[in-house]
Amino acid sequence: MTDSPSAKPLGPIPAGFESRNGELVIGGRTASDLAAGGTPCFAYSRAMIDARMAALRAAMPGRLHIHYAIKANPFAPLLALMAELADGLDIASAGELAMVRAAGADLARVSFAGPGKRDAELETAIAAGVTVNVESEGEARRALRIAEKLGVTPRLAIRVNPDFDLKGSGMKMGGGARPFGVDADRAAALAREVIATGCAWRGFHIFAGSQALDAEAVIATQGATLDLADRLARELDVPLPGLNMGGGFGIPYFPGDAPLDIARVGAALAERFGRLPDSLEDAEIAIELGRYLVGEAGVYLTRIVDRKESRGETFLVTDGGLHHQLAASGNFGAVVRRNYPLAIASRFDAPPEEVANVVGCLCTPLDRLADRPALPRADVGDLVAVFCAGAYGATASPAAFLGHGPATEMLV
Ligand SMILES: Cc1ncc(COP(=O)(O)O)c(C=O)c1O
Repeated sequence: MTDSPSAKPLGPIPAGFESRNGELVIGGRTASDLAAGGTPCFAYSRAMIDARMAALRAAMPGRLHIHYAIKANPFAPLLALMAELADGLDIASAGELAMVRAAGADLARVSFAGPGKRDAELETAIAAGVTVNVESEGEARRALRIAEKLGVTPRLAIRVNPDFDLKGSGMKMGGGARPFGVDADRAAALAREVIATGCAWRGFHIFAGSQALDAEAVIATQGATLDLADRLARELDVPLPGLNMGGGFGIPYFPGDAPLDIARVGAALAERFGRLPDSLEDAEIAIELGRYLVGEAGVYLTRIVDRKESRGETFLVTDGGLHHQLAASGNFGAVVRRNYPLAIASRFDAPPEEVANVVGCLCTPLDRLADRPALPRADVGDLVAVFCAGAYGATASPAAFLGHGPATEMLV
């Protein structure tokens, strides 16, 4: 292997991927088979999603409901699968409501969270019987007015901006001043007002952060969430019908990341559930997860179209890039760019031989899929796999940028 320039580490390839005849296999099919219909493409493994869900259910207390936040990946066949596997779906727009409707989901098991809901979105959601997690006093009053106009009883929950955040999370969504939810110290007053209207009161939604890998941090946040919900319910003097505890379970993307210990999280939650206060005794308690359920099951496949040298460095130029996998390029919320897990899919068994940059086809220096990793020698025609592409890939990337068009998606 060349020793100059020095190699940079790649993120860990998720467990469960195998090779056949030297090629990466996803969902039982080789990379070249999957790419035969054209590249770039996303392949999502149904078996890995099934296995993830089963392992999570085995680790968590039986009474915990597991919801899927469809923002992570709303690809229709995958969404239909998640509608079957999960106990509920969380949506963030009327567009996502149309998607869950098309997937045949039970709309009574759908909740709608997100700031800036427009009147038309509230109207559609309330008419559909979706639980609306209101994000402010103003939004609550608009929802109630719209329900009155429609002549229906709205299913309402209040999203609370907690007075804590999820430590170590990639994205903090609670604590401090936030556009999400009603500050914890005003939540009971709003709940009182909402309950007094005779609406179908669904309880609280408390989402403190996302992408946490530290079990102790998740356990502490879940404990604080249950404490806050109890405090609010006692202030109201009404037992809670429901509590959405948020989620935040992360997946390892970067060198040095280790998987979240869900056995520990589940054991701690079971212990808490064993001594719930009266206010929460009958509550339907849920967590809502996106990336943890589907992120590691997805692979982005792109083909090398050029191999070139520049001032002592090798560049493998692919037909994909940040327009499909913005996060892997380091431009989706990353403070410091680090390499995602990536491999030469068509030489999955081969040992590293050289240091090469893997870049996309966009004419911007931002479009880098891997910065100087050590890889098997790859050439034009070889396939590159970017892992952890099952969440926040296709729909969280600027597919229209530079006109290359979207990537194909497959559930296999
Ligand atoms: C309200 C809400 N629920 C769920 C999620 C899903 O997060 P993740 O994919 O990290 O599980 C998010 C992410 O931002 C969110 O804001």
